[in-house]
Amino acid sequence: MRSSVVLAATGLFTPPHAISNDELVGAYNAWVGRWNDQHAAQIAAGEVEAKQPSSSEFIEKASGIRSRFVMDRSGILDVTRMAPRLPRRSNDELSILAEMSVAACEDALARAGRTVADVDAVIVACSNLQRAYPAIAVEVQHALGVRGFGFDMNVACSSATFGLRAAADMITAGSARAILVVNPEICSAHLNFKDRDCHFIFGDVATAMLLERADLPREKPAFEILGARLETSFSNNIRNNLGFLNRAESADDAELLSRMTAPDTDLLFVQEGRKVFKDIIPMVSRMIVAHMDELRIEKLDRMWLHQANLNMNRLIATKVLGHEPSAEEAPVVLDRFANTSSAGSVIALHLHHEDLAPGAAGLLCSFGAGYSAGTVFLRRTAS
Ligand code: COA
Repeated sequence: MRSSVVLAATGLFTPPHAISNDELVGAYNAWVGRWNDQHAAQIAAGEVEAKQPSSSEFIEKASGIRSRFVMDRSGILDVTRMAPRLPRRSNDELSILAEMSVAACEDALARAGRTVADVDAVIVACSNLQRAYPAIAVEVQHALGVRGFGFDMNVACSSATFGLRAAADMITAGSARAILVVNPEICSAHLNFKDRDCHFIFGDVATAMLLERADLPREKPAFEILGARLETSFSNNIRNNLGFLNRAESADDAELLSRMTAPDTDLLFVQEGRKVFKDIIPMVSRMIVAHMDELRIEKLDRMWLHQANLNMNRLIATKVLGHEPSAEEAPVVLDRFANTSSAGSVIALHLHHEDLAPGAAGLLCSFGAGYSAGTVFLRRTAS
C-alpha cells in the first residue's frame, strides 16, 4: 500500500453512564443469591449446581478492567432484569448507533479542522450493528450532511482496522478524497450479564477516524499510513448469534429476555476465553513482527493495541518489543472503558498520541472474533 493517505484525526463519544466492578458484581451476586434460593431444592438434590459469586478482585486481575461506560445503567443493575433498557425508537428518529456515530464524527472533524464538505463517504465498521438496512452509515451520512456514499461492515473486534484499510484503498484508488470510519459499539446489548465468566468484559463507546488524501493542505499534525495488513482465520471460539440491539423491542418481552439470558444460550456473546487467549497471542505477535520487518521499521514508539485483556496486551507487546512494555509504549484504556470491541485500539490512540514527535512510529492493532486481526503502521507528521 502506498503512503498516499493520512489519518488526519480521531474522535470519541463516551456514554453518559459508568458501572464500576463493585456495582456490577453487587448486582450479579444479588441475582445469584435469588437464583440459588429459587433452585434450592434442585441444588440440595444434586440436580443443578449452585451458582458461584463473582468478584471485583478476580475481574481486575484476569482482565485489568475496573469500570465500563454504558448507554443504560439501570437495566443492567436491575437484579430482576440484568440487561440494558434501550427503548425502541421510531423509524423517524435517529437510531441510537447513528447518534453515537455522529458525535464521534463531529469530534474527529473538529480536531482535523475539517467540515462535512471535505468528506466524501462514511463507513460504519463495528461488531454490533442494530439492523439489516438501511445501512447505519447512510443514516450517519444523512445526519451529518455528507455528500457521497456510506456502507456498513462488520469484522467484529477488528472492524476498525479493516474499515481503515478499506477507506485507505478507496482514497488511494481515487474513489473519495476523505472518508470517516466510525466504530459505534453498544457491547452491553450483546453481553449476558448472568454469565459469571464474561459479565464484566464489555463497555459501550463510539470512535471515529478521518482518513484523507495525503496531498491535501493541512495545518495540524496527522499520521501517515505506512502500511495496513489484514488476516482472518475461521474459529467458533468467539461467537454471537443474535444480540439485543437488533431486537430492541425484545427488551420488554419477558419470555424472550429470559431465553436470551439463559445459562446455555448462544444468542449473546459467548467465548472459549482460554482458547482465544492461546490462539490470538501467537497469531497477532507473528503478524506484527512480519509486517514491521516488511516495512523496515526498526523502532516502534507506541502500540495502540486492541483492548480486550491486560495480560494479553502485555504478552503481545513483550513479544514484539523484547521487553515488558511501559505505559507509554503500550497505553491501556481497559481500566476505564473495558473491552469496547472494535473501538478499543482507537480510544487508546485518541487519548495517547499528542506527545509523539514528528517521525515517531506507532502501531494500531486489532484482533478478535473471526478470528480476525489487523495491523496498521503509522508515522507522525509535522503538519
Ligand atoms: N469471578 C470470580 N471468579 C471467576 C469469575 C468471576 N467473574 N469468572 C471465572 N472465575 C473463576 C473460574 O471459575 C475459575 O475457577 P477455577 O480455577 O476454580 O476453575 C478461575 O476463575 C479461572 O477462570 P477462567 O475462565 O479460566 O479465567 P481466565 O484466567 O482464563 O480469564 C478471561 C478469563 C476471559 C479474562 C480470559 O480467558 C481472557 O481474557 N481471554 C481472552 C479473550 C478475550 O478477552 N476475548 C474478548 C473478545 S476479543
